[in-house]
Amino acid sequence: MRRKLVVANRKMNGSIPENKVFLKELIAGTEDFSNADFVVCFPHPYLGQAQDILTGTPIAWGGQNMSRYDHGPYTGSVSAKMLVEFGCQYVIIGHSERRGRGHDSDSSVGERFQVAVKAGLKPIFCMGETLEEFEQGLTDLVTIRQLNSLIQQVGIKSLTQGILAYEPVWAIGTGKAASPEHAQSILHFLRGYLILKDPEVGKHISILYGGSLNRGNAVDILSMPDIDGGLVGTASLNTEEFIEICQAANAFMVCDV
Ligand code: PGA
Repeated sequence: MRRKLVVANRKMNGSIPENKVFLKELIAGTEDFSNADFVVCFPHPYLGQAQDILTGTPIAWGGQNMSRYDHGPYTGSVSAKMLVEFGCQYVIIGHSERRGRGHDSDSSVGERFQVAVKAGLKPIFCMGETLEEFEQGLTDLVTIRQLNSLIQQVGIKSLTQGILAYEPVWAIGTGKAASPEHAQSILHFLRGYLILKDPEVGKHISILYGGSLNRGNAVDILSMPDIDGGLVGTASLNTEEFIEICQAANAFMVCDV
């Protein structure tokens, strides 16, 4: 059974007072939305605040990255165990804003996936092509390379312990979302590929779309059959808009596979 899931990626935004208002409004605004699941991924310093405010509510929270190491001399890094100590259930890994800046390679993202699962977190594994790759018609090739690298490292069966997110780099933060048809066709392709490898994994894995998802396109994108939800950056900074996206996700039936 696949339920729709909406994840806010707050990136490097917010403050203690702003987060407080955002979370209170989000709790109130989503209290009737029981058909979908909601997660907020905060910058690490705010995870304690998220834990204080969200404990006991249906909204989960998570980090935006984590180290592939358990502990040690890694200045500025945060371990999976630390995220768990702050009540996180999720962690974003391999976001293009990190992959693109030399921090994360395909193999280190795979390691993070394994470490996250071992610690009891659900990793949200991001993949997607750049504008150049898109223009060259390489979307399938690039996403399959990223997915295969993950499968080789963690094994196909482990994939369902995490979540996949297709985030075309050209759509992130640009206001130019993929069309619902394009997003559906890529997710359908990725799911089909996984079904060929392992039907159970392919049918049950949750795959999100991310990249300029907003109040104007949420209904059309989230209604697509292979799109199990969204990873929302910019629009998660506007609480009212983010609640509308959550409402759109809540409106669609659970996909019973
Ligand atoms: P965006 O970001 O919604 O601002 O495009 C999405 C993401 O980076 O996850």
